[in-house]
Formats: sequence, structure tokens, C-alpha cells
Amino acid sequence: MKEVKNFYDKWEPESFPNYIQLLINFADELIFEELNLLLKKFKNFKNKEDFLVLDCGCGFGAFYNLTKDFNTLYLDISLNLLKKFKLNERKICANILHLPFKDEVFDLVVCINVLEHVNHLNALNEIKRVLKNNGKLIVVVVNKDSLIKEEIFNDFEIYHRPLSAEDFKVNGFKINYISSVYYLPSIFKIFPPIILSKILKHWKIVDKKLSKIFKNRGQFLIIEMVKE
Ligand SMILES: C[S@@+](CC[C@H](N)C(=O)[O-])C[C@H]1O[C@@H](n2cnc3c(N)ncnc32)[C@H](O)[C@@H]1O
Repeated sequence: MKEVKNFYDKWEPESFPNYIQLLINFADELIFEELNLLLKKFKNFKNKEDFLVLDCGCGFGAFYNLTKDFNTLYLDISLNLLKKFKLNERKICANILHLPFKDEVFDLVVCINVLEHVNHLNALNEIKRVLKNNGKLIVVVVNKDSLIKEEIFNDFEIYHRPLSAEDFKVNGFKINYISSVYYLPSIFKIFPPIILSKILKHWKIVDKKLSKIFKNRGQFLIIEMVKE
């Protein structure tokens, strides 16, 4: 576990080569749009401030805009990433495997690209513990069954285990919804960033079409679960 923490404490995506930043931003945009649709139903709640959300493994807050309108707590194991996160409050440095909360407090837990780094069953158990009955969990993970194996999202020097939809069929949770995003062939990386960014602009529409044809075979798996 320490290794993962050390790795992310030194993680500086802003110093990555241009093409990697472009691909990460592109993946984040696709994920954001998909999650935003899933969160729409909660945003219509009258008392959004009473709706308690946990962004579990929030990093430096790349997905802050997704949950900013709710009463959200932001948790990560890396203190350094939390320091980079622009918020001054509501940030907690802790381990997803030992969440520092009482049982059944959250209405929604969002967990984006974190479960690959831990024993996902233990983490799911811990998330289940802190979720209210009928509470929702929205997970994004690197997909074990994806057609694309983009090395940027697969080759890690620390514990990193892509997961498949099957891995989420666990006791105490019912799967409500599954989809996936990111079907960009790796070959496009060879283009200079100026051309790559143009390709990415147009690829979004293609990606959405491919996600309908090749269901659940994109690079990132998105799953909404409900605690039973
Ligand atoms: C790929 S980053 C994703 C960050 C953020 N969710 C995002 O999508 O931008 C993985 C994050 O998981 C965090 N993480 C890894 N293991 C963790 C653990 N055991 N408990 C809490 N956070 C953890 C890392 O510190 C890092 O911020």
C-alpha cells in the first residue's frame, strides 16, 4: 500500500509529455460526460446540500465539478495530491480500505480509477459499510475486457489490476447500469500533439457510437450500483 501512496505522492501529470496529457484529458472528458448524465437524477433533488457524497480517491480533484453542488467529502491516500486540490476544506487523507466514517452515512460514493490499486472486494465492502441502504456507488475502473489496451492507462509500476463487470457482482450490491468509454486506437499517439488534439475533437462522437456497438468493451468501465 505504501508503494501506491509514494507513487501518487510524486505523481505530476502536469509534467507528462503533451500527448499523454491530451489522452488523459480526453479520457477524463468522456468519463465526466457519462458520470454527469448518471448524476443528473441526484442533481434534481431539492435538498442537494443534504445529499452526502464521498469522492473516494479524489486525487487532486480532477472531477470536482461533478460533485461540487452536493455536500461532498473528498478523500485520498495521497496527502500531496490533496494539497494540490484547490479546496481548503472537506478533504480527508485516508485509506479506502479503512474509511474513517460511521456506518451508513453517505447517499452516494463516487470512486474513479482507484479500485485497480487495491483489493477491490475489500474496498467494496468498506464502501458498502459507509453507504446508506439504497445508497448508490458509481465506479470507474480500467476495463480488463477492453478492446483497446492503451499503455498509458495499463502500464503502471505499482499494483494495478484492471477489472471487468463480473468483478462487481458482489453480495449486498445490485448493478443498476454498466457502460464504457474510450475506444481510441493507440496508433493515433504517433501524430504530433497539434494533429492529435484535432483528431480527439472529432473522436468524441465516434467514441459514443462505438460504445453503443461494442458495449462494455471500452478502456474505462463505468458501473452504477445500489446497496441492497
Ligand atoms: C488514477 S488516480 C485517480 C484520481 C482521481 N479519482 C481522478 O480520476 O482524477 C488514483 C487515485 O487513487 C488514490 N488511491 C490509491 N490507493 C488508495 C487507497 N488505498 N485509498 C485511497 N486512495 C487511494 C491515489 O492516491 C490517486 O489519487
